[in-house]
Amino acid sequence: MAWFKSKEKKQDFAAQVDFTRLPRHVAIIMDGNGRWAKRRGLPRSAGHGAGAENFRTIATYCKEIGLEYLTVYAFSTENWKRPAEEVSAIMGLLKRYLLEAIERMERDRVKMCFFGDLSPLPKELRLLCEQTREISQHYEGVQVNICLNYGGRDELVRAAKAFAQDCVEGRADPNHLNEANFSSYLFSCGVPDPDLVIRPSGEVRISNFLLWQSAYAEFYYTDVLWPDFSKADLLQALVAYQARSRRFGGVGR
Ligand code: FPP
Repeated sequence: MAWFKSKEKKQDFAAQVDFTRLPRHVAIIMDGNGRWAKRRGLPRSAGHGAGAENFRTIATYCKEIGLEYLTVYAFSTENWKRPAEEVSAIMGLLKRYLLEAIERMERDRVKMCFFGDLSPLPKELRLLCEQTREISQHYEGVQVNICLNYGGRDELVRAAKAFAQDCVEGRADPNHLNEANFSSYLFSCGVPDPDLVIRPSGEVRISNFLLWQSAYAEFYYTDVLWPDFSKADLLQALVAYQARSRRFGGVGR
């Protein structure tokens, strides 16, 4: 009966979404992998494995429903503080994911980009990121941005440094700096700001994710842990998003 009820609930969300008014860009903080594993008496790495599997499912679904951009937080500039074996497990999962993505690329045709400084990543993983990005650049449809060794503050400091360097070398002029041209120094250059930021797992904070870009994003929080975050949960987030009144500092209609 419970199963029947939850299935009914899922169908309801699909019926409630207006697929002609989807957000262009959805960003997700894939949180709760560790707790998911702990509840099952499994090592944290098993939670990340389940999280990576769920990322595949949700990314494919985003493509199916016609979202233009999906950005996920896979590894932050602060995540290096985690135990070495956990960091290594996440790197291993990313490597496996990219190897599979390259294999399926012609079929899936998903444009893949990476936000973050890839230079400290294991060489093999860094090369896979570069290869994936190069092969997929001309694909149209959904663009998936994986934030890897990414931090919003780090991104802003890098942008400021790059801009200052351009000024020193005569390519930029501080008097002409504005929000639009500053954005072009960010990892997200050319990508529209996220409309909706989703954080599963019950935590209600931004954790250094897309600090500049989420200035006017709608936020959606849920207690569901990331490995359990289903297509129905995504639809529920879209329903909530569509019920919001976005005024961007104005008064709305
Ligand atoms: C946060 O949950 C999750 C991470 C820091 C890692 C996310 C990594 C993956 C989902 C796997 C690789 C990704 C891809 C794109 C293939 P947490 O560990 O902080 O969970 P907790 O708060 O419950 O401990």
